[in-house]
Amino acid sequence: KVLILDFGGQYNQLIARRVRESKVYCEIKPYNISIEDIEEFNPSAIILSGGPASVYNEGAPRCSEEIFSGRWPVLGICYGMQLMVHYLGGEVKRASHREYGTISMTVTNHEGLFKDISAETEVLMSHSDFIPQVPADFQITAYSDNTPTAAIENHSKKLYGIQFHPEVILTVEGKEIINNFLFTICNLTADWTMDSFIETTVAQIKAQIGDRKAVCGLSGGVDSAVAALLVHKAIGPNLTCIFVDHGLLRKNEAQEVMEAFEGKLGLNVIKIDAQEQFLSKLKGITEPEEKRKIIGNEFVRIFEQGAAKYGQGEYLVQGTLYPDVVESGTDTATTIKTHHNVGGLPEDMTFELCEPLRNLFKDEVRIVGSKLGLPQHLVSRQPFPGPGLAIRIMGEITEEKLEILRDADAIVREEIINYDKDKKVWQFFAVLPGAYSVGVMGDDRTYQQVVAVRAVGSEDGMTATWSRLPYELLDKISKRLVNEVDGVNRVVYDITSKPPGTIEWE
Ligand code: XMP
Repeated sequence: KVLILDFGGQYNQLIARRVRESKVYCEIKPYNISIEDIEEFNPSAIILSGGPASVYNEGAPRCSEEIFSGRWPVLGICYGMQLMVHYLGGEVKRASHREYGTISMTVTNHEGLFKDISAETEVLMSHSDFIPQVPADFQITAYSDNTPTAAIENHSKKLYGIQFHPEVILTVEGKEIINNFLFTICNLTADWTMDSFIETTVAQIKAQIGDRKAVCGLSGGVDSAVAALLVHKAIGPNLTCIFVDHGLLRKNEAQEVMEAFEGKLGLNVIKIDAQEQFLSKLKGITEPEEKRKIIGNEFVRIFEQGAAKYGQGEYLVQGTLYPDVVESGTDTATTIKTHHNVGGLPEDMTFELCEPLRNLFKDEVRIVGSKLGLPQHLVSRQPFPGPGLAIRIMGEITEEKLEILRDADAIVREEIINYDKDKKVWQFFAVLPGAYSVGVMGDDRTYQQVVAVRAVGSEDGMTATWSRLPYELLDKISKRLVNEVDGVNRVVYDITSKPPGTIEWE
């Protein structure tokens, strides 16, 4: 397995995804992990990520120098390469200008890292430092007009440094270069598959939970469903799935989820109605983070009540994914939103957690789901946030606003599903921004709610682009919303991508 050290670069998770796509298991850890922890992790190779810092600045993130001793093969990317050069006696300097964009790179050594790579190959550069002098025993293996040391290596110690980013698709042969590191240089085997994941994870869950009992919060989404299926495979009837109707669900959703899961796939599913409990806790609350925390708390309280009632006490199964774990685990990251399944847990919770997906990316979860027999429409279901419609209603949540949003959202979804046959739009929904506007209907003045339509394309939710829906479709949605939903007299389309926006409004 491969250890990826995180120096704060924006593409770090992509490095991990590329390595996993090549069927090699890897994990991302903070840059300052100790040598003892590395030894315990026992990696076959180490990749150092990029990052925003400059190695010669005070307080720049440093890893242990021992990493470059030759005990492990190392691939340093961008900042990672500069750090390696800095430690091993070379020189790193600020360039006169920042280089950002794809450039043509000339490869001068086609063994090892650049085996079968074109002599001229396009790569993405993003750096403001350069290396005027490489360390002793290092060789330059690629250059470009602006970057004389685009790649360096010490072949005998298996230390490799590249200034460009192989993990992004803009680097045309990036995947091949990563594969050369993994397979040609490190001799790793491509044996990380979802079949092996299922097998080892089920064994781990058996060892963790044994013959004790667990509850799983089932939301209807793919993550919690797959987590439930894995745990069910491990402990069978000792797992009870609890589906909470918190009153913040979409139109007909509670019924649809129960139809999809109750008595299916071997799962034991119960539904708990808690609309009043959630709405009364949310009364008067307008601040988004407060809403999220209250909802996270209430979920756990309900699971506790459910567990007590059904005698299924000790473990709470959650579908937490790797991006959430990585994001909440780095000390440099700011909390943008408290995802209800990670940060929103009450401190006095009585459960122990079982999170079988905490090392997986979403696309891997979908593969596991298919392998465990989850029907395709559930495997490819679009994301719906745990706090539900509460974070799509700006300001206080009321029954009346929920009703308007449910009706509006049903129309938005129906129209976009009809139009988007080849599923190009990744997520789409309606939002109540909490704004009122004046309109005219017939001969009368109206003063009613504005509905915002949100539709985005994305790969993993971490970045997103607003969808260029045709005007005719937007026109149809607008007319239907104003005509069919009581209390709505204006429709706007959200044309913000992520970043700088987020997908949800709160
Ligand atoms: P944002 O709004 O952060 O959303 O751009 C990214 C993706 O995550 C979903 N989302 C959540 N999912 N619990 C979840 O399970 C949450 O608290 C939550 N908040 C946002 C959102 O729908 C989008 O797909």
